[in-house]
Amino acid sequence: MTSTALKAEQTGAKLIDGKAVALKMREAQRARVEALQATGVTPGLAVVLVGDDAASSIYVSRKVKACEAVGIKSISHRHPSSITNEELLVLIGKLNADPNVHGILVQLPLPAHIDMAKVLETIAPEKDVDGFHLYNVGALVVGRQIFPPCTPYGVMHLLEYSDIPIEGRNVVVIGASNIVGKPMALMLMARDATVAICHAKTRDLGQWTILADILVVAAGVPNLIVPQMVKTGAVVIDVGINRLPDGKIVGDVDFEGVRKKASYITPVPGGVGPMTIAMLLENTIQSAERKAGLREPAHD
Ligand code: GUN
Repeated sequence: MTSTALKAEQTGAKLIDGKAVALKMREAQRARVEALQATGVTPGLAVVLVGDDAASSIYVSRKVKACEAVGIKSISHRHPSSITNEELLVLIGKLNADPNVHGILVQLPLPAHIDMAKVLETIAPEKDVDGFHLYNVGALVVGRQIFPPCTPYGVMHLLEYSDIPIEGRNVVVIGASNIVGKPMALMLMARDATVAICHAKTRDLGQWTILADILVVAAGVPNLIVPQMVKTGAVVIDVGINRLPDGKIVGDVDFEGVRKKASYITPVPGGVGPMTIAMLLENTIQSAERKAGLREPAHD
């Protein structure tokens, strides 16, 4: 190893291994599913996939496989994009009424002719394990986390697992989506961080990112974050999943460059991605535990 390479390694960021954390969580999750089964309840997750989006199909397969690994019964509903809005709402109504279903996940994005807002509002709030129903979004806004959306919930777990303090720290979130950026900001605010959200229209992004003690990037743009945009010692959480023309999967952060400057960094793949699935299992088990009376109900 050259002396420069040695120095880079010595000063490099600690890797936050989301895959390892997610696998570790699985042991406890399996035990909780067994405890539920002892009371006669098998947690059930209905997974709805509409259309043939290749990435969605892969994500859904991973979710189904993870359910199997902890003993959650997953029920897949795959439909062609020709399904009507009405048919989809009828399906959700049936899943709402099915006592064996504790969680309902409708994989996004949906085809353009489907009214996504209506679909998400039709899911029973107590089965909304993605946390996208208005009731659960509202709960998050006022600091009650009933079903925290899985990706930001996973990021919070990684920060906690790595003993990274949040209170009073400057956090910059890049990306203002309903799935990641906005709930991420709310969860961090609930922990008394000072939060800024940047997005595609933000001018001079680097002026914001350089202030961040913790930088969460969910923009879907490879190499958006380069070392000169990152404060020395920052914690960098890369939520991006991008497929390059050569098939390689990368995040939004120039990993090799930024890891030399950051104190902690998540890799892609193997960082936030596995945690999104881990938190989906968590929310589904919690839903079944509430139903079985092993946990306080989510609703009055
Ligand atoms: N599409 C991208 N991320 C998610 C997610 O967390 N949940 C669902 N349902 N769809 C997604």
